[in-house]
Amino acid sequence: AYALFFDNSTRTKSAWAGAASRLGMRPVIVDGSSTQVEHGETAEETGAMLGMNAHALGVRHDLILGEGNRFMRAVQQGIADYLAATRDARRVPVVNLQCDIDHPTQVLADLMWLRERFPEGLRGRKIAMTWAYSPSYAKPLSVPQGVAMLMTREGAEVVLAHPPGYTLMPDTLETARKHAQASGGSFTVTDSMDDAFAGADAVYPKSWGPYDLMLERVDANRARDKARMGEIEKRALARNASHRDWICDERRMGLTKGGDALYLHCLPADIGDEVTPGVMAKHKVNVAREANKKLYVIMALLAVGKHPELAKRL
Ligand code: CP
Repeated sequence: AYALFFDNSTRTKSAWAGAASRLGMRPVIVDGSSTQVEHGETAEETGAMLGMNAHALGVRHDLILGEGNRFMRAVQQGIADYLAATRDARRVPVVNLQCDIDHPTQVLADLMWLRERFPEGLRGRKIAMTWAYSPSYAKPLSVPQGVAMLMTREGAEVVLAHPPGYTLMPDTLETARKHAQASGGSFTVTDSMDDAFAGADAVYPKSWGPYDLMLERVDANRARDKARMGEIEKRALARNASHRDWICDERRMGLTKGGDALYLHCLPADIGDEVTPGVMAKHKVNVAREANKKLYVIMALLAVGKHPELAKRL
């Protein structure tokens, strides 16, 4: 079970390894930057070459808008074409381990954790998905997009908060609106972190990159212009620094329902910037338990991907 990472990871690598092992496969983590993709190998070729020797494939490709999800679908096509051409009946599922649009194994893990904490369901629960200041790097948009799209399906009242200029991919916002309408939940957007926290049952404060600069990065990456990529990153961090007050602190937690909302984070968090040390210390075990759910999410996705009609067989 290969997992191909074009970005750093601690938790998802570990969850992939644990899930694949428990299902009887042997996990192999592949560093995307060490493959021939950088040298012009297409995603279809990469898929065929890894897929011909694998039983499952995971991919993380999250940093460039418009690219990661497309890469994964092309990888899947490469595998499917190879297996069909060689009359190989194996199923080699591709698991999205974070793309530019979504981080499905993360947000499904978040949902499992929320369901455990709110066993009566998320209907009517207020979930604040908010931007928070980070000096470390211009983080991907996929977690807030995934949270907005998934929790609205569950009937939650999702409030997305961010400073001006930090909007998300328009299609994902539209999907969140549609999901909220269909489920009877709600989806609102505000530029006030306090408003989002007010009365919230759960808060998910984390950073992501400024939208216009994330779009600029697409062109720089396509031109393989590393100097421009570096310069864009510097501008993104300077922009972030003008919103240092977007932090999850004790005062803001005091605005939440009963002053005791559940704090969520996909991790790693920038402690002291995205969240105060005190809030993180209080929720240290909570965020670890949240992270632990990913193992079971990946096991489920692999099992469904490997076994036709799994639900019927179970
Ligand atoms: N949250 C998350 O995906 O963690 P990693 O980046 O460490 O895998």
